Amino acid sequence: MIDTFKTDVKKGLSALPKFLSSKYFYDEAGDALFVKIMEMPEYYLTRAEMEIFTIQTKALIKAFEVEKGSYFELIELGSGDGSKTKKLLKKLVQEDYLFDYCPVDISKHALDHLKMDLKKEIPALRVIPKQGDYLDIMANFKQSKHKKIILFLGSNIGNFSDELAMKFIHQLGSNLKKSDILLLGVDLIKSAEIVLPAYNDKNGITAAFNLNLLKRINKELVANFDLNKYKHTAEYNEEEGVSKSYLVSLEEQEVYINSLKESFYFKPNEKIHTEISRKYNDDVINQIVLNTDFQVKTKIIDAKAYFADYILERF
Ligand code: AVJ
Repeated sequence: MIDTFKTDVKKGLSALPKFLSSKYFYDEAGDALFVKIMEMPEYYLTRAEMEIFTIQTKALIKAFEVEKGSYFELIELGSGDGSKTKKLLKKLVQEDYLFDYCPVDISKHALDHLKMDLKKEIPALRVIPKQGDYLDIMANFKQSKHKKIILFLGSNIGNFSDELAMKFIHQLGSNLKKSDILLLGVDLIKSAEIVLPAYNDKNGITAAFNLNLLKRINKELVANFDLNKYKHTAEYNEEEGVSKSYLVSLEEQEVYINSLKESFYFKPNEKIHTEISRKYNDDVINQIVLNTDFQVKTKIIDAKAYFADYILERF
């Protein structure tokens, strides 16, 4: 892990334009900052999807096409604290559906916590956590003959380019069977007025989240980034529906990374691209799904039409 981090940092900071992967945001401090982001008034995504899971639970379950008597596996990729999923799980248990809940996460800590929490809140639920990489875990599910419902919520797919998203969904499909379901939660394309504040809040929580990446490099790769000499910015292209985050070097400077035994030079105003947060509509989703074994069955959206849970069916 530390080795891929090292090589990725070297690659990204040597490139022109510079880039770092958003997957490295999530160390302990980054996890805590992301929880704070989800609580911000500007970050509408979590609330919008929570609304869907709270008041349209029935529609979600109907779209799964599961029967009460026949067992299925409900697999969630990147379960986090499971607050949205709990709404669904409670309803499924209440209605006597026969299923196991398999949260998949890279963080053992998050999984342990979720399992304990669910034991208290929904004692009748069977929870089978799996720790590791999503696609590795999915490959292990391949032998199972049971129907599978895969949850990939929170617009987490938005951190992928469309090309990567397509590859990912294609690979997911190769580990599934006909009539398995992928519930894909995505943020919808909307005006910059609404999107930009979500990625550049007035209290600077998102800025701290982005800058934490440099802090992490300082700590784990023994570097000397001066956090006061970089600032966070977000740009949103309304036509394309793509939000991008950057760290901008405020002056000409050089940073030394001891673990790499290498210096990196920054021009004044030079940017490091750190994140893409893609927004979607039917056309974009159809394009991504085009060369996969999935078809869009339906979508369920919140009252403001900010967010959509697309129901994709494996054929
Ligand atoms: C976790 C990928 C859905 O892109 O909206 C939040 C991460 N970045 N604020 C997103 C994030 C900045 C988030 N996702």
